[in-house]
Amino acid sequence: MLDGRKIMLGVTGGIAAYKAVEVASRLRKLGAEVAVVMTRNATRLVSPLTFRTITGHPVYTEMFEEPRRWNVEHVELAQWAELVVVAPATANLLGKVAAGIADDFLTTAIVAADCPCLLVPAMNHRMYANPVVQRNIRLLRALGYEIMEPEHGRLASGAVGKGRLPEPDRIVRRVVQMLTRREDMVGVRVLITAGPTREPLDPVRYLSNRSSGRMGYALAETARARGAEVVLISGPTALAAPEGVQLVRVVTAEEMRRAVLDHLAWARVVVAAAAVADWRPVEVAKQKLKKEQGPLTIQLVPTVDILAEVSQRRRPGQLVVGFAAETEDVLANARAKLERKGLDLMVANNVGRPDVGFDSEFNEVWLLDPGGGCLHVPRCRKEEVADRIWDRVVELLANATPSGG
Ligand SMILES: Cc1cc2nc3c(=O)[nH]c(=O)nc-3n(C[C@H](O)[C@H](O)[C@H](O)COP(=O)(O)O)c2cc1C
Repeated sequence: MLDGRKIMLGVTGGIAAYKAVEVASRLRKLGAEVAVVMTRNATRLVSPLTFRTITGHPVYTEMFEEPRRWNVEHVELAQWAELVVVAPATANLLGKVAAGIADDFLTTAIVAADCPCLLVPAMNHRMYANPVVQRNIRLLRALGYEIMEPEHGRLASGAVGKGRLPEPDRIVRRVVQMLTRREDMVGVRVLITAGPTREPLDPVRYLSNRSSGRMGYALAETARARGAEVVLISGPTALAAPEGVQLVRVVTAEEMRRAVLDHLAWARVVVAAAAVADWRPVEVAKQKLKKEQGPLTIQLVPTVDILAEVSQRRRPGQLVVGFAAETEDVLANARAKLERKGLDLMVANNVGRPDVGFDSEFNEVWLLDPGGGCLHVPRCRKEEVADRIWDRVVELLANATPSGG
């Protein structure tokens, strides 16, 4: 995926520096050339030898030692790189870059670089919340630096808060996005639904399904990376809000329906990736149902079919994409649904398999269109599936009559 792409990986003196080893290793496995630059404080936490062995490149730490590869190494390395990534980026590094300070190899190379630069802050939650750090982040964003949001969770100190370095896998995905970015959806307004819905039975119980929301979130993230404006309407999930996306959280099918209808006129493309409950209990008990009541029969009524309603209310030029989560006769069932609901594209997947679909990071899908076309996307990460879906949507948009929306 990154064959021969040239990446300068900066590592600073944060406790998460060890995770940068995994980042470097994954980038190498994807075929990238990785040159690591470490601050002096980073070398006190992880040995440069580890990075040198993983990357097969010399590791740069000192500005004034004998040059190894180039004459003026901090400048030449910055010119060599197609992308600079700093992970972890300390509060100190953010402050220095925001102020234009160049007092060591890494900060000088950053000042000398004119390629895109991704900074991945990681620090104690109180440090991260500090107004000076937040001001620096705002300033850096305004200057064109890309900054990944740290994750919320358990920190090295034992405290829980926002400041954790995102998992190496997420950082690498962002790097791949930045290096393979296509800006073919600039200004396209996309409405995406994701995740399950919950239909309450009593104040503590609900009916739901195994959808993790990953497919819808991957669609949101990739559409955003390609330049789209994205509203993501999500049922309850454990996923972090994708950056740059307007997230609307809902719980029930009816709440999701209302949120979708509220944004329908705004959207040019609607992708319904949520696993909306097909039924809900007729009655919701006001108090918790007691086991002592004995066997329980729950009467269910169908929920409204959001996708069918969207398809009926669509205006000319609006594209509607559905998902068919099937466990048998996947293609036949998906095609019947595509025709019944009058969609522009149907993404069929088999949710009966343990290695793809629900609750998995992978998927294998078939993209069906009303003309009888069927494009197979073999098993791959959901982000890649999402990109294949957007490739198809971009083609359909190019053929559709613009709607003025
Ligand atoms: C054990 C240890 C862990 C640290 N972890 C972090 C961290 O996660 N984030 C951070 O911003 N600073 C952290 N610091 C403080 C930085 O190392 C310190 O601000 C230093 O000046 C950063 O230098 P550098 O940005 O040149 O690497 C840590 C310090 C120590 C001793």
